[in-house]
This record gives sequence, structure tokens and C-alpha cells, in this order.
Amino acid sequence: MQPIKWEEGRLLLIDQTRLPHQEDWLSCTSYREVAEAIKTMQVRGAPAIGIAAAFGLVLGAQEYAHLQAQDFQQKLQEIAAELAATRPTAVNLFWALEKMAQVVDELAGQNPSLIVRELERAAGQMLAEDLAINKQIGNYGQELFPSPARVLTHCNAGALATAGYGTALGVIRAAHAAGKVQQVYASETRPLLQGARLTAWELHREGIPVTLITDNMAGYLLQQKMVDLVIVGADRIAQNGDVANKIGTYSLAVLAHANSIPFYVAAPISTFDFNISTGREIPIEERDPREVTCLMGQSIAPEGVAVFNPAFDITPAQYITAIITEAGILRPPYGEGIAALRSEKGS
Ligand code: MRU
Repeated sequence: MQPIKWEEGRLLLIDQTRLPHQEDWLSCTSYREVAEAIKTMQVRGAPAIGIAAAFGLVLGAQEYAHLQAQDFQQKLQEIAAELAATRPTAVNLFWALEKMAQVVDELAGQNPSLIVRELERAAGQMLAEDLAINKQIGNYGQELFPSPARVLTHCNAGALATAGYGTALGVIRAAHAAGKVQQVYASETRPLLQGARLTAWELHREGIPVTLITDNMAGYLLQQKMVDLVIVGADRIAQNGDVANKIGTYSLAVLAHANSIPFYVAAPISTFDFNISTGREIPIEERDPREVTCLMGQSIAPEGVAVFNPAFDITPAQYITAIITEAGILRPPYGEGIAALRSEKGS
């Protein structure tokens, strides 16, 4: 399953707001459509929004390729700023736009049509590399699984959240291919139900045994020793190993710790933010209250009730057993291992 495709100068995205019941593809022909798709979470998941934004910049570059070199570059900066303003927490978005900005800088003053071609090449490379990176994360991560393994995951860190294969779900896929997976528990992930709609869909259609639970059931499963390990993805990882991920991840990590169950994070190097020391510096997106007061378009709360809707939380490094990256497995204390990844990130 590859949710992002670049075909004949258009960006094709599987519309994740319509899954699991409809497999609709969006065809984006302008950077504005890509920005809107990221905001509305038609495309979501840290690596996927980074890649989508990169192609968004390509679309913007195509649109303004008729401008003079200097105006063209100025326009590209404005477009990148618009794409960067779509969602604040996942650092992959800023990482991808930074990579694209480097391409533009290196070709400063050149013919815009040459810059468009190079941007297209760079975005295509990002897409292809993400898939390879996920497979590598899967190879490393599956070594951590006992056999047979009963696994709990939260939100969707799967093929849909990446160029394909997935990070946390990539590890699960690799472990399943190695014959190690007995059961995957997917927590539904209120308010937007990425676990129920997306993770359960991805695994079920591939024949990987998946059981859906509501978020508040996780503690019971962990206490009853029905789970051997928890594995999740990440939206941003600080220099000390603190992890921002979907709201509810922190509660799972504390519960895993209290029940002596390993808690793993799987993420590419592009998810590390080498500019911040701890998770306290990570901006947490707050989303529309209607995501909480409505369930699949149906109101479930009194009209006018106050709502708090943070989309992510921070899991302190002390609750994380290991972080699985394409460069290998990091163990606490994380500071040194994360610093060593910096040169590999290339920004
Ligand atoms: O709000 P979302 O659906 O974009 O949040 C996604 C997550 O929290 C994922 O776990 C994270 O981006 C990792 S995806 C490989």
C-alpha cells in the first residue's frame, strides 16, 4: 500500500478521512490543495505530511516557473511558509521543506525550469528513500519481538502515515513476516480514530491478526499480561529522547512502565529535532473542538460545552525502552546516540 503517488505532474493522495469505507484518491494540482489536504488530515502521519509538502512545493514551483529568477525564489519561500503553517508538531514537515530549500539555494539564480526539475527529483527521492528507510526500521525492530508476540499499538504509524510499509506498523509487518506475531491490539485513538479506521484497516486487509480496543481498555490488557510489548511511531523526538506522538501515547507508556512491559518507539532520523533539548519545547497542535464533540459527523455532547483537544502528547524518555531507527536501535540514556544520528540527518 503506497498512499502517496506522483504521476504526470500531479500528486495523488489516498483520502484518509474516507477510510476504511471508501478508497478515494485526491488529485492535487496546486500547492494550495496540498496544504489543505495536510490541514484537513486527508494526508496525515509525520513522514507522509513531509513528503506531501515536498511535492506541494514542486507544484508551486511549476505554477510560478514563468517568473524571473529572483521573483521565483521569493515566491517559493512564500509557498514553503504556507506549507509549513499547516501543522505544527511533526518535525518531518519542516525537515522536508528544509531539504527542498537547500535544493533551491544550491541553484540560486538558475533558470526556474531547471529548479522545478531538480525539486521534482528531490521530492521523488524523498518518497523512494522513505520506503527503504521503513523497511530498514522493520528489519531492526522485529529483532526485539519475542515469538509469539502480542503487541499493542496506538494511532496509525503504518503505510498510510509514510511512503509505504510504515514505522511502528513496519516493524509489526517485518515481525509478522518472520512468523512472530500472534496478535496486534490497535487502540481506536479518539478523537479521529486513526487506530480503528486506518491501523485496523491496514492490518486486517493484509491478514495480520488485529483486535480493536477502545483507548480506555489498554490499562486492563497490560495489567492482565495480554500484551508483550507496546510499539508506536513519533512526530518529533527531542535530543534527550522525549517523544511527541498521538495524544494517549504518554498514558500507554506510563501503563507499560507500571506493568513492566517494554515500550518501543519506531521513527526515521527525519523525526529527530536536533534543535531542541527536551520534549517541553515541542509545540503541541490543538485542533477543532468539533473533533471531540462529534463522532463521524454525529454530535455526542451538549451544545456549547467547553472542549480541550490537544492532538499530541509528550512521552518522557524515561518510559521508553528503545527507539528504533534506520541506523539501528537506540537505548537509554539517549543523548549520545541521538547526537550521533545528527550527521546522518544531513540538516
Ligand atoms: O494526527 P496524526 O494522525 O497525523 O498523528 C499521527 C501520529 O501520531 C503517528 O503516530 C506519527 O505521525 C508517526 S507516523 C509514522
